[in-house]
Amino acid sequence: MANIVIVGAQWGDEGKGKITDLLAEEADIVVRYQGGSNAGHTVKVGEEVFRLHHIPSGILYPGKLCIIADGMVVDPEVLKEEVEELVKRGLSVEGLRISLNAHIVMPYHRILDGIWEARMGKGRIGTTGRGIGPCYADKAARIGIRMSDLLVERLLKEKLAINLEEKNLIISHYRPDLPPLKMEDLLPRYLELGEFFRPYVVNTSQLIHQAMDEKKNILFEGAQGTLLDINYGTYPFVTSSHPIAGGVCIGAGIGPRRIDKVIGVCKAYITRVGEGPFPTEIIGEVGDYLRERGAEYGTTTGRPRRCGWLDLVALKHAVKVNGLDGLAITKLDVLTGLPKLKICVAYRIDGQETDVFPVDANLLKRCEPVYEELPGWERLEDVDDFADLPKEAQDYLRFISSYVALPICIVSLGPRREQTLGWRVRKEGYLWDRIVVDTVD
Ligand code: IMP
Repeated sequence: MANIVIVGAQWGDEGKGKITDLLAEEADIVVRYQGGSNAGHTVKVGEEVFRLHHIPSGILYPGKLCIIADGMVVDPEVLKEEVEELVKRGLSVEGLRISLNAHIVMPYHRILDGIWEARMGKGRIGTTGRGIGPCYADKAARIGIRMSDLLVERLLKEKLAINLEEKNLIISHYRPDLPPLKMEDLLPRYLELGEFFRPYVVNTSQLIHQAMDEKKNILFEGAQGTLLDINYGTYPFVTSSHPIAGGVCIGAGIGPRRIDKVIGVCKAYITRVGEGPFPTEIIGEVGDYLRERGAEYGTTTGRPRRCGWLDLVALKHAVKVNGLDGLAITKLDVLTGLPKLKICVAYRIDGQETDVFPVDANLLKRCEPVYEELPGWERLEDVDDFADLPKEAQDYLRFISSYVALPICIVSLGPRREQTLGWRVRKEGYLWDRIVVDTVD
């Protein structure tokens, strides 16, 4: 039995979907603890591609419980589409459970997201436009609508009345072109959505505690990434939740001592969508090469992702704030064909070198990367053993592991499940306990 956390160690889009999908096979329960439809996980099974926004990737295996926990914000319109799409493609959603406490993203949140961004002008964050920030803001202001409210007409009506009065004032001021949102439209629609989800809505933290007592394997799946954490990311260019491992405790309702292992997912390079400082960004040919080879376009918004060299200063920050036990390195194949690979090992700021990641966006903007250069490799087959990788690829992985003093437990060479070291020749024990590269290698 184990409680395993998977977190993004960069700015999101690290390939957590695939890693969660791999580990989910050995788990009984998969839990998402923060974020909402701003996330987009792509999982490739055979030739089929599944795009999930709210539902944990574990849903692709029959018989798993997949929990949308208290810390998430749910857009019921999007979630309903996701459920219907899975059912249409012959998958069961019987294992889905949604927390009574999850907050609801309402249509006014999406409008406010656009208004806030427009007002910020050049300082805009480049959000996904999914209403995530305004929904979490209402949660903190204690006027949010929760899943449980969609199940009781009187409660929903009361809360909608308070919100519509305030939100329509703002919307009519900044967007006079839009009609005001009306109680008679929203109340019946959201009650209907409540009825659709009623069979899945439960006290999820109690369910998780019960599963822990029964010694089940539980996988906690983070969305976004460490550098988008509202406290430990590059504020204000962050999301409004806590993607870091600590977010599991507040977002799923478990104590920190119940977590057995934290695995950080890290691409072999780095990407970012949206605005904000990005020291190792590559503008030009090599950046375009990575974007095209890595299909670096947002799952949720389709926006091209900004691409850059692997940043070990940022990774070390992720190791510390998450208390990582091991790394899963993804998309190593994307680097194939580049003759030289740069890795950022320090920042230079005001003439001084540092390996401490500044979370202040203004300071980060002034940081210049200090690189080490490693030789690239020309070909990379779908091998199963670390020893069968090109020597240069082995050295690249060893360099990462030794810089952050952490073992690498998973290496992914492509989007499919079998494009993972150690996948075809299955050994005893859990995948999350394997070590592909040890720091002492
Ligand atoms: P929001 O979460 O939509 O408010 O967006 C805030 C910032 O987080 C923006 O820079 C987004 O591009 C980024 N972001 C949100 N979700 C994801 C994700 O799943 N992957 C990568 N970036 C994301």
